[in-house]
Amino acid sequence: MSKANQIQAPKGVSEYVPPQSRKFESVRQALLEPAKNAGYELIELPVFEDTELFTRGVGESTDVVSKEMYTFEDRGGRSITLRPEGTAGVMRAVIEHGLDRGQLPVKLYYSGPFFRAERPQAGRYRQFYQVGIEAIGIQDSALDAEVIAIADAGFKSIGLEKYRLEITSLGDSASRAKHRVELVKFIEKLNLDEDTRVRAGVNPLRLFDDKRDEIKTQMINAPLLLDFLSADSLKDFEDVQKHLTALKVDYIINPRMVRGLDYYTGTTFEFVHELLGAQSGIGGGGRYDGLMEQLGGQQLSGIGFGLGIDRCVLAADAEGISFDQEFTSDLFIIPLGVESKTVALTVAQELQKAGLKVEISFGDRALKGSMKAADKSNAEYVLVLGDSEISTGIVELKQMSTGKTSSVTLTSLQEHLRSVSGK
Ligand code: HAM
Repeated sequence: MSKANQIQAPKGVSEYVPPQSRKFESVRQALLEPAKNAGYELIELPVFEDTELFTRGVGESTDVVSKEMYTFEDRGGRSITLRPEGTAGVMRAVIEHGLDRGQLPVKLYYSGPFFRAERPQAGRYRQFYQVGIEAIGIQDSALDAEVIAIADAGFKSIGLEKYRLEITSLGDSASRAKHRVELVKFIEKLNLDEDTRVRAGVNPLRLFDDKRDEIKTQMINAPLLLDFLSADSLKDFEDVQKHLTALKVDYIINPRMVRGLDYYTGTTFEFVHELLGAQSGIGGGGRYDGLMEQLGGQQLSGIGFGLGIDRCVLAADAEGISFDQEFTSDLFIIPLGVESKTVALTVAQELQKAGLKVEISFGDRALKGSMKAADKSNAEYVLVLGDSEISTGIVELKQMSTGKTSSVTLTSLQEHLRSVSGK
């Protein structure tokens, strides 16, 4: 096929092919492990949902909903959206399956692709990958601290060091209402274009997140929510900090933090990597007190996070972290002829079942070519399987690193490989 005929991946998607995919897999495992160790269970959900889930759950004032959703009509005329984030879907499923009627908190983890029609750039993709957790049904500052510490443990187990944790609190509804009155009064006096004013009308906090200089300067003296926290909310926020300190999770308070999704209340946080440039958020999350009720469920609080796998892979590269996850097989079998291929397949199947990594040389390569392939696959041992080996049942096992050979019977192959590989 000529190059002009080739089909390329859609613009702005992230994809991982070997050897890069090994890194991706290591990072995902590292991020998931602390959640599993803390008792979170897998939830696997569809990548598309009813559009209304996100308009209601994530909020119409957000860029995510107003500009970035992949929305289409399915063949039945329903409005469907590719999930831009995970929390709303998890909440939908918790309500639908009645998980909130059992033991609380409901503790769930997930990982998979998410979709936002953003302008692509390094670290910002239209299909990207997250690991996330949600803990639903208990409001406890100790739980907030544990959730944050789980994310932190994930980053540390990748080996990341050059990142910081920023936290703030959006308080309870009374605190937010009091602050909103003052903020709206402040915003009324600003010089804003019509679009911005409309956005601020839906959620005035959005203006803290505006990247334009003319808005940033105008917002310098804006009233901060942290100064309006009720006594309860303040105590809660202080408790979260006390727990984080005990857990040795370093943090700074960022009172101007605004998350990109509207459901947040109480503790909110972001992890920012210092070597990633503009797209430096490697994870974020927080509490969402009203979300379940907004989606038709009971009035339960929740907290969770989403961590960007793609950005963690970039961060690991930027910090020079290496992953020696190369596939190395214990044994590479070179069959000579059709008969020996059948034997090679069955021998490999037995050994693979026993947990050994075994590859076979396929095709009709000459012995020299097969030995090269064995070398490339980083095999520990190689054996050639021809008519005489099959009739005697004895093979010559060659150790690739030393070139040493030893005679082993086919029946004792497994035992022999196990003892030398320590498996
Ligand atoms: P979020 O901050 O929108 O939160 O996304 C979480 C992480 O996903 C970000 O910190 C970033 O690392 C990664 N990410 C987001 N957009 C992109 C993109 N276009 N390309 C590459 N990476 C991206 C949420 O999604 C919430 N659901 C988190 C949460 C869970 N809050 C409570 N529970």
